[in-house]
Amino acid sequence: MADIDVLQQLEQTQQKGLNSLAGIASEEALLAWRTQYLGKNTAITQAFQSLGKLPAELRPQVGQTANKVKVALEAVLAEKTAALKETSLAHALATETLDITLPGRPLVQGRLHPDTQMLRELYRVFGEMGFQVYRSREVETDEFNFQLLNFPIGHPARDMQDTYFVEAGERGTNPIVMRTHTSPGQIHAMREFSATNPQNPPSVRLILPGMCYRYEQTDARHETQFDQIEGLAVGPGITFSNLKATLSDLARRLFGQQVRTRFRASFFPFTEPSAEFDVECFLCGGKGCPVCGGGWLEIGGCGMVHPNVLRNGGYDPERYTGFAFGLGPQRIAMLRYGINDIRYFWENDMRFLEQF
Ligand code: FA5
Repeated sequence: MADIDVLQQLEQTQQKGLNSLAGIASEEALLAWRTQYLGKNTAITQAFQSLGKLPAELRPQVGQTANKVKVALEAVLAEKTAALKETSLAHALATETLDITLPGRPLVQGRLHPDTQMLRELYRVFGEMGFQVYRSREVETDEFNFQLLNFPIGHPARDMQDTYFVEAGERGTNPIVMRTHTSPGQIHAMREFSATNPQNPPSVRLILPGMCYRYEQTDARHETQFDQIEGLAVGPGITFSNLKATLSDLARRLFGQQVRTRFRASFFPFTEPSAEFDVECFLCGGKGCPVCGGGWLEIGGCGMVHPNVLRNGGYDPERYTGFAFGLGPQRIAMLRYGINDIRYFWENDMRFLEQF
């Protein structure tokens, strides 16, 4: 008797399922229908679960009926699902509009950082003058950053370049430092070139660009991290006039023929004589402003390479002379574009960067 009930329940489930499906019009309702008729607690699953307890001769009939009901309900479910999808697509097409004349969102175009642009322009100008780019490291030893450039340990000139030291164990008198200027590259470069022919080293004409680090009190002209571009020309018979001509020509090429420049006597341990190279401030026309101070903006130091430095690089100072300079590309960009604070360069403010 109980088994007849199971069969009846199955038939009823199929009938009810088919009937109620007709009225379903949404995906949520269809989901609920599926749980009710094909879920875990339905006559179909119960029938399958009871198979083991039924007399053997009834099992095939109950099993087949449960299966038939399941297949039938699944088939109508699939049909209904497809039908609902189609209805909702038709509805969307009929009600939503696609305006193909709407302009697209503009793509933000990337660009080079103003410092990179300035450096590339300097490479171009120096390239035209016959200088080649030589890359040197940013992490240096005290020996290269100072000692081989005539700054012995404890020399007061070291105070001009407040230094970041890198913790690297006990290194005695030769600690590791973040380079404070690009000048240590002079020694690396001269050693590399002189090693190619130690008796008769080749003349060199190089620029050495890169980042430098100083423990600075930052202000409109000073950053704690800044670019420098070092110049080095070594050969027989090079004079201070060559240095003046090179830097004056550089200023004219960058700022125009009318630009005023000046060389001020100065001191660097690795050049003798030494000078600072100034360009008249464009921002105030030479009157004096917060950026330049007194009407001129110092853009670099320079001088004739000291005989000790030539020797440390493998060049005999009796036969060779040379000039060197170290410029601040950001200071040059400030003059060029009227930028009144060097700290804008690394602030990454898009309103600043997008102007270049
Ligand atoms: C030097 O660093 C020397 N090595 C330059 C040199 C090279 C002299 C070869 C002789 C021969 P100085 O400290 O003045 O010199 O720095 C050179 C230039 O780097 C400055 O004129 C300036 O343009 C730039 N500079 C220096 N310190 C900073 C700073 N804190 N922020 C931005 N630019 C700086």
